[in-house]
Amino acid sequence: MEKQWWKKAVIYQVYPRSFQDTNGDGIGDIPGIIKRLDYLEDLGVDAIWLSPVYQSPQDDNRYDISDYQDIYPPFGTIQNMEELIVEAQKRHIGIIMDLVLNHSSDEHFWFQEAKKSRNNPYHDYYVWRDGEEGCPPNDMQSGFGGSAWEWVPELRQYYFHQFSIKQPDLNWYNPALRQELYDVVNWWIDKGVAGFRLDVIDQIAKDPDTGSITDNPNLHPFIKELSRNTFGKVDLNLVSVGETWSATPENAPLFSNPDGSELSMVFQFEHMVLDQQGRVKWDLTPLPFIQLKQTLSTWQTALHGKAWNSLFWDNHDLPRIVSRWGDEGEYRVISAKMFATLLHGMEGTPYIYQGEELGMTNIRLPIEGYRDLETRNIYRFRMKQGYPEEEIMRSIYAQSRDNARTPMQWDDSAQAGFTTGEPWIAVNPNYKQINAAAQVRDEHSVYSYYKKLIRLRKEIPVIVDGVYELLLAEDPSVFAYTRTNDTQKLIVICNFYGQECEIDIPALVPEGSELLLANYEDEGTMNQFRPYEARMYLFPITV
Ligand code: GLC
Ligand code: CA
Repeated sequence: MEKQWWKKAVIYQVYPRSFQDTNGDGIGDIPGIIKRLDYLEDLGVDAIWLSPVYQSPQDDNRYDISDYQDIYPPFGTIQNMEELIVEAQKRHIGIIMDLVLNHSSDEHFWFQEAKKSRNNPYHDYYVWRDGEEGCPPNDMQSGFGGSAWEWVPELRQYYFHQFSIKQPDLNWYNPALRQELYDVVNWWIDKGVAGFRLDVIDQIAKDPDTGSITDNPNLHPFIKELSRNTFGKVDLNLVSVGETWSATPENAPLFSNPDGSELSMVFQFEHMVLDQQGRVKWDLTPLPFIQLKQTLSTWQTALHGKAWNSLFWDNHDLPRIVSRWGDEGEYRVISAKMFATLLHGMEGTPYIYQGEELGMTNIRLPIEGYRDLETRNIYRFRMKQGYPEEEIMRSIYAQSRDNARTPMQWDDSAQAGFTTGEPWIAVNPNYKQINAAAQVRDEHSVYSYYKKLIRLRKEIPVIVDGVYELLLAEDPSVFAYTRTNDTQKLIVICNFYGQECEIDIPALVPEGSELLLANYEDEGTMNQFRPYEARMYLFPITV
């Protein structure tokens, strides 16, 4: 394997519960992923980021792990997992495990022990504070609503949980705990995985007394030690991706220093929170387009040669991009391709979240239809606070994590070919129009377009290494940029909106450029860009 292979790679995220069911219980499983590996090979992806498959009571869909070395039974067994790794390898696809090392489930053996007594050897694996019932140490709030402190009467102590009550935070300041975690990571490395995605890794050095969760002095020493003892060992050549909500263009080089002492790349969300008021995702505000351009461009420029970034629009926590900023109707296909063009021309490692390559859309369900605890919580909290129900539902339609978690749409048979039984969450009713079977056959589909983009990244070096420059920074509807190295210039021009617009192409695209890819079938007119029109040109630089 080439060193830093992940710089040329495209990674596909699988959310196993919603990918492919093989035994009719309505829940996606590991044999289902194996069954679909040929599809992923055809698409051309290099690795799968596998959302957690570990043993878990399912409070937060396996981001609450009760055994890091076992599989959630409805998904299968360790043997299935080993088979997946081998079968994927045969198709040159690596498996990236999603590791949640910031917290465990409260049903993990460590926590069961920890709450037995203050003297239990596992007690210090978690974060405890003394206190009085009803009077938590401070007013820190959990990410899923409510206090971040939970009272354990037998111990007369509170434990800290950044996420749900069933996700107690691990205490990284305890060396024995850190060693246990390294053992787990190495156990997976021995199984032949290609790397790890590290859930909320920027929170492991939290200081709950001051309320400072991320930028603490021990954060980078902890990540370095983890890396040194596990995936960072040089000859392994593994990829490590840090979910880092707090990363900035300034501190990203700490997380993903090219010296390899911490992580391969950051996965940060600055461009994905711009249509929210503050950081409250339920409080919607129109997307400030000029700011989106600035944000994405700053990351492009600041990290070049200093750090490596992930490129994404969608994941299992985010709504679908076509519904969010594109068009679900007439221009669904065109706008899906526009977003793909815009992202895949940039520097970084692109991620495709399952179904994004089909242009899958958000869903609207009655409140009982939602399965995600975050969605259910916000509904309850806001109803109690007296928000109008209609407004709450509008936020949920736009932002619920379940938008991304409806079953993968494989074909136009019952339940979209996802299951022969009752799916654990509703299938989007538009599966007859939007499904993989139809798109694989169709060279004009969103799927075929993604396939081309993936191939271009392999064939055209400037897509991997070119220096980025934003064009038309103040233009209210055009997102255009170039990437340049010694021998090539890539020019990407996108109309971000559903209205036609005028673009002076000769001013942006040097004569002698080749049109590599465009999302309309006919060339159209030179300077008149149609709704969501996107073009990618390549210019050979003669020296
Ligand atoms: C991350 C995951 C999210 C999960 C949370 C707690 O943000 O992506 O799905 O709920 O961490 O583990
Ligand atoms: Ca199943």
